[in-house]
Amino acid sequence: MHFPEPQITKVSIKDAETLNDIIEEEFPYTSFSVEDIKKKLKNKNFFLIKHHQKNILTGFAEAEFFPKKEEVRLNAIFVEEAWRGQRIATHLLKRIIHDAKRRKGIYKLFLLVKESNRGAKHLYKKLGFEFEKIHDKELDESIVEVWSMGIV
Ligand SMILES: CC(C)(COP(=O)(O)OP(=O)(O)OC[C@H]1O[C@@H](n2cnc3c(N)ncnc32)[C@H](O)[C@@H]1OP(=O)(O)O)[C@@H](O)C(=O)NCCC(=O)NCCS
Repeated sequence: MHFPEPQITKVSIKDAETLNDIIEEEFPYTSFSVEDIKKKLKNKNFFLIKHHQKNILTGFAEAEFFPKKEEVRLNAIFVEEAWRGQRIATHLLKRIIHDAKRRKGIYKLFLLVKESNRGAKHLYKKLGFEFEKIHDKELDESIVEVWSMGIV
């Protein structure tokens, strides 16, 4: 069977509900509404991309730019369970890095990750992130690490 090429595109207003369902389930410690997501989509300091196979949303990533601090933070990266292990997160993250490099005055990309999330840390390391420090707050009673990379 032939599958069409999977694609990465910007998240659109039409995806807001689906994204909200995923975020509520996967990142319950964050509290966003569909309206919040729609607001983010209109805000140039947020960059939300999705990976999709035809009309099925298979993964997404969100980056937030802090121009004054000259930094960008990866706020979330997620791939639907059935689609994991196919380099989808790698492609999403490469797109985020590519976009960060294109923005003027951004010199650092960083993220927070639970110390126990070995899979995600493996992915970050492969793409050039390095452990920076232990974050000053816990999340879900878990230790959180800060990982970062320089953007040139
Ligand atoms: C982490 C996550 C985004 C990875 O998505 P994915 O599309 O399966 O990742 P990739 O296929 O691009 O994997 C890239 C590398 O990371 C490794 N990896 C990914 N998930 C892993 C896991 N759970 N355990 C071990 N290694 C893992 C892959 O093996 C691959 O390394 P390799 O090239 O040496 O084989 C996905 O598991 C997920 O959505 N998890 C839940 C949400 C989450 O934890 N997000 C991160 C929050 S900080």
